[in-house]
Amino acid sequence: MKLTSLPLARTFCMALLLSGSATFAAASEAPYSLPKLPYPVDALVPVISPESLAIHHDETHKGYLNALNRAVENDPKMEGVTLSALLAHASKLDGVVRSSAGGHYNHSFFWTIMAPVGTGGTPSSGLLKRVETDFGSLEKMQSAIEAAGETRKESGWVWLVWTGTKLAVTTTRNEDNPLMDDVEIQGSPIIAIDLWEHAYFLTYQARRADYLHAWWTVANWKEINSRYALASTDPK
Ligand SMILES: [Fe+2]
Repeated sequence: MKLTSLPLARTFCMALLLSGSATFAAASEAPYSLPKLPYPVDALVPVISPESLAIHHDETHKGYLNALNRAVENDPKMEGVTLSALLAHASKLDGVVRSSAGGHYNHSFFWTIMAPVGTGGTPSSGLLKRVETDFGSLEKMQSAIEAAGETRKESGWVWLVWTGTKLAVTTTRNEDNPLMDDVEIQGSPIIAIDLWEHAYFLTYQARRADYLHAWWTVANWKEINSRYALASTDPK
């Protein structure tokens, strides 16, 4: 793994990584730490059960985190390399580092864009205007995300991203994400939904479509609006 050029990319995605909550920002530099959930473990009922959320955060996310920190500790060249730099050079990483860096970023992001039912607000006028331009309506955008998430048969994530000129829906495999340098569609993450069975199986079994449809009930539009406002070049 060649990391000599990684520091040059430190600022590339830093604004994106630091644009969210304090807990998310704290998880962005080595040694990486597990961000606390920004709500109680039973806060996302009935969409996500407390047991499912606890296992997902305390075991699955922590597993990625531990693997990433082990990789950093065992490779002097990775000392001081930021998570944003790792993601921007994902094509140069070995599989374990790529997966653990992506897993840490993706889950840290995911926790922040969910909120207890009735507290997540609504899409901002700016986001709504862009959604109507790119998808026709909010409902069509949501349907596009659900359809893409259902279509990806294996584990991965479905995303709404700002590409620099428009909003787009894309999916990534395993723990890849749109900040990586070799994925099909790159962009600034606005929405991410975990498609791994560990995210929904305890409540929905194999019914991923039901999980995706229900997910909007816990969408944290306040955070999603903030991420769109920071990422887009649209008039604020
Ligand atoms: Fe997950």
